[in-house]
Amino acid sequence: MEVIIKPDPHSASKEAARIFESQIERKPNSVLGLATGSTPVALYKELAALTAANLLDFSLVTTFNLDEYVGLGPDHSQSYAYFMRENLFKFIKIPAVNTHIPNGMAKDISKHCEEYEASIRRAGGIDLQLLGIGADGHIGFNEPTSSLASRTRLKTLTARTIADNARFFGSEAEVPRHVITMGVGTILEARHCLVLATGAGKAKAVAAMVEGPVTANCPATALQMHPRCTLIIDEAAATELQRVEYYRWVYDNKPAWQRAKGMMSLD
Ligand code: PGA
Repeated sequence: MEVIIKPDPHSASKEAARIFESQIERKPNSVLGLATGSTPVALYKELAALTAANLLDFSLVTTFNLDEYVGLGPDHSQSYAYFMRENLFKFIKIPAVNTHIPNGMAKDISKHCEEYEASIRRAGGIDLQLLGIGADGHIGFNEPTSSLASRTRLKTLTARTIADNARFFGSEAEVPRHVITMGVGTILEARHCLVLATGAGKAKAVAAMVEGPVTANCPATALQMHPRCTLIIDEAAATELQRVEYYRWVYDNKPAWQRAKGMMSLD
């Protein structure tokens, strides 16, 4: 796993935007896996600004989001469909038909999950998957003890995640208990995983993900098995890492040709 430590959330988001830019430059019809939550908002602003400046073109891009709340339709202000429209899609001129988000109102959830997996396969698989990490180590909404081989399915949120996400709703009582999420196995099939995490609240989960043993108790640790995973964090999220000086050394000694293109050591 490549660990990139930036001084603050702003520079971390800029670094992530460079990776998106380089991906779309190399493959204009890239398939992108997208995430929601507080962390990617600044990255999405960067992508919107790059599009406005005609430096980025999403017209051939296809996207698949990680997850959605069960019971919230696309017009509910806390649905992830709404979030994506308001924070990214309306700024990047991507054809709506190219964007995919699990349908929280699906009548037959199991069937819908199978179809979601099939549409990822039909699109040729995900080239670059953006991920956040929960304070409890979840990726997507794969809560602790999720199977590390899991596929897109219904999950029940933990009390911790419900409390963490209550800030977006009026109260904890209003946070849906169930979600549809890509599985850990689905995520691991992306060709490149990019995890973005900022703030002291993520420091413990980040350390477990990078340096802890691989365990379903912290689903993000499954990314240690991924051949090409990049983690971008700010200083606050780096405080619990044991090998922090080594990660800085690797980054500082990155070959110039990789740095210039926003490329990772495995490119
Ligand atoms: P956050 O969520 O960006 O709102 O902290 C991350 C996550 O739960 O995956």
